[in-house]
Amino acid sequence: MHIITLDGETDFDGWRKAARLMALNEVKPEDVTWTVRDGEPELFAASATDELPDVPQGTFNVPSKFVELAKAAILHRNPERFALLYRLLWRLRGHHDLLNIATDADVAEIIAMARAVHRDEHKMHAFVRFREVGREHKAHFVAWFEPEHHIVELAAPFFARRFADMPWSILTPDVCAHWDGHEIAITQGVAKSEAPTEDRLEETWRSYYAAIFNPARLKVKAMQTEMPRKYWRNLPEASLIKPLIADAARTTSTMIESEASEPHKPQKQEPAQDPSLQDLSMARKPAHDSIAALREEAANCRACPLWKDATQTVFGEGPQSATVMLVGEQPGDKEDLAGHPFVGPAGQMLDRALEEAGIDRAKVYVTNAVKHFKFVPRGKIRLHQKPNTPEIRACRQWYERELAAIEPELVVALGATAAQSVLGKATPINRNRGHLIEHDGVKVLVTVHPSYLLRLPDADARAREYARFVDDLKLAAGWLRRAHAA
Ligand code: URA
Repeated sequence: MHIITLDGETDFDGWRKAARLMALNEVKPEDVTWTVRDGEPELFAASATDELPDVPQGTFNVPSKFVELAKAAILHRNPERFALLYRLLWRLRGHHDLLNIATDADVAEIIAMARAVHRDEHKMHAFVRFREVGREHKAHFVAWFEPEHHIVELAAPFFARRFADMPWSILTPDVCAHWDGHEIAITQGVAKSEAPTEDRLEETWRSYYAAIFNPARLKVKAMQTEMPRKYWRNLPEASLIKPLIADAARTTSTMIESEASEPHKPQKQEPAQDPSLQDLSMARKPAHDSIAALREEAANCRACPLWKDATQTVFGEGPQSATVMLVGEQPGDKEDLAGHPFVGPAGQMLDRALEEAGIDRAKVYVTNAVKHFKFVPRGKIRLHQKPNTPEIRACRQWYERELAAIEPELVVALGATAAQSVLGKATPINRNRGHLIEHDGVKVLVTVHPSYLLRLPDADARAREYARFVDDLKLAAGWLRRAHAA
């Protein structure tokens, strides 16, 4: 029996070196025990692979996909992971395509482990909350987090990029990560009692969360999946969740009561005087694919580098039965933090214009051409950057899959980036607005982006352009009404 002692829970290089040496010496997986140095009896310390001869010229190749999966799976908390990885390495030597057999138990396990690790990394990006300490001397920001897996070193570069200007520490029971503005240092884990518990940032977080909380879009189950209860205790805004949900339930039941007297209209009924699209969306047949499944898949999208600095993927939202799909450019700062499209200033402008055009946003599917926030940090502010063509192309798969799942009758492209993604080529807005374009069997309306209106410095121009924007949206509403009246 060979006992291999790794230097730590995340010692991929140590595992790789030992695994290579053992495989070249034909040591079978069942003849190896893997341990980690921490807290291990001295007795084992000297054993490792010392007694195996090095085989410098010996070599074998494994697919790069294995290396990628192994680097993630080794961060899983399951103590059997080192043995699983060695078993797979052993088997891959004789069966190079093994990783393509999804039904193989070892393959399924390494894929599930790697996914769980990336999910945990994503949760850490989203749920770490810094508290300011040592204000009188030099401010330092400290967060407490309890990761499910050994992901602190993996997740830390994200915070270094995001909060490049502020010194921070993320304390966890496993290890702690520290950033001094230049480099990340990793130290031993600490007890929760060492993490600060209150400060002035908490109130800011709470009021921010209350401001972006939209009861009309509340889905408690989805929210709990995205923000599992175990993270709540370390989130300043968590104390608001219960009252906000209770409040939303009250609001919703009031809405249901007031709607109860309105009979549902059959599909071919004459359009109501009210141009709201509410009735049209009820007439839709159910779509085949699940937006929830797409959203989950997109949460780990790495098709372009934008995921690295963004907090999370902001996927589309709205009923799967919607007849209208609105496509924006990309999430902004607020959307990136909240995880929902169009909840910031451009979203408010859009909501107002939709209402004036007689379109009920709750019945529309709202998404973006690019699903991650692209920005450059300027001090504490994140300045929006327009996505480039490779980024738009990389993200188009999600728009295509949303389109296939929703099957809308009309797509409204808001601004040049959306038009480029929806129509598959650069499309000038002014020359193409004001009429519907037929594209791949779907009607498309191109118009300006609401943030263009927000940027106009002159009040007259802003009012004029806003009216044109509402007119464009009315065109969409009118076409749908006529289509359903026919
Ligand atoms: N701008 C967009 O294009 N999309 C959003 O979700 C927010 C702002």
